[in-house]
Amino acid sequence: MKVQELIDTARALVAGDKGLLAMDESNPTCNKRFARLGIPQTEEARRAYRELIVTTPGLGECISGAILYDETIRQQKKDGTSFLKVITDAGIIPGIKVDTGAKNMARHPREKITEGLDRLRVRLAEYSQMGARFAKWRAVIAVGDGIPSRGCIEANAQALARYAALCQEAGLVPVVEPEVLMRGEHTLERCGEVTEEVLRTVFNQLYSQRVKLEGLILKPNMVLPGLTCPEQEPVDEVADATVRCLLRAVPAAVPGIAFLSGGQPGELASARLNAMNVRFKSRLPWALAFSFARAIQQPALEIWQGDEAHVLAAQQALYHRARCNRAARGGTYDPAMEVDGTDSAPRGGSSVKRAVGAQ
Ligand code: 13P
Repeated sequence: MKVQELIDTARALVAGDKGLLAMDESNPTCNKRFARLGIPQTEEARRAYRELIVTTPGLGECISGAILYDETIRQQKKDGTSFLKVITDAGIIPGIKVDTGAKNMARHPREKITEGLDRLRVRLAEYSQMGARFAKWRAVIAVGDGIPSRGCIEANAQALARYAALCQEAGLVPVVEPEVLMRGEHTLERCGEVTEEVLRTVFNQLYSQRVKLEGLILKPNMVLPGLTCPEQEPVDEVADATVRCLLRAVPAAVPGIAFLSGGQPGELASARLNAMNVRFKSRLPWALAFSFARAIQQPALEIWQGDEAHVLAAQQALYHRARCNRAARGGTYDPAMEVDGTDSAPRGGSSVKRAVGAQ
């Protein structure tokens, strides 16, 4: 195991103010999102959409790493250039989702266990050979009456740790994603309790499986009230609750924490990440970054709608969300950025319009 390489890659993923772009929706998930917008659910439509994403001008200013899916890592632009080359040329580190999905857990109604450990060593070797430098595995924990159970938390934590150890053996940085779902009526406090228990269990398992903490990225949920909870705390309270929970459960050796968005509206995800960095950045042992899928992609997907004529406008929307999240990492996000579509403190020297026009 080349430990220094793992550490360097993990640090590069959370360096500066950049973050990760999750574009690793499985085919069924991608198709579901397409279906809602009336976009054909074909391999060509998925390829065209991913081409739109990876060719977004200026993306590398804000995005350090992109998480791909098995179909996507093998795909090309229309002109035959592989997505892997396009990403790498943009200075973005390619990664790959390697779990095979969350399945109903035996004897645990309403709970899921993530699968994908069988043949994982062989699959990781292939992805590494193709050029991937990090991987992702998502476990999902639902909150409700009597759940999550200890059995569900422990089984998912152990699978995450076994996956992480196999990744490091293969020279890939594991992005460890235990997601406590937003669905439900639970309070912010309950989400905090569950998230803390899940993270403590995950780090115990990572220790048991001899995973090097300096060579991984944690991808957790923010601590949020359930979607249908009547009380929805303001941004600063979410930021406080999230950081308090992480300080209790995440060892200082971890280089970075890159949040998932979990279905939050993009603006809110940016505002919450921003508040954490404004209030705590100088006092934290790890970087607080993003690894969003929907909170970066959703507006672009809605503009695109499968229509070639909308590609530039969709790329502009994608770039805008990426810039907002870069600002949130630095604690300089301002909701006013949402009005004129520009960053109030542009870095890298290109405006949205110029970047898109450069294509
Ligand atoms: P969301 O940001 O849409 O939650 O997706 C993140 C992710 O990678 C889910 O596995």
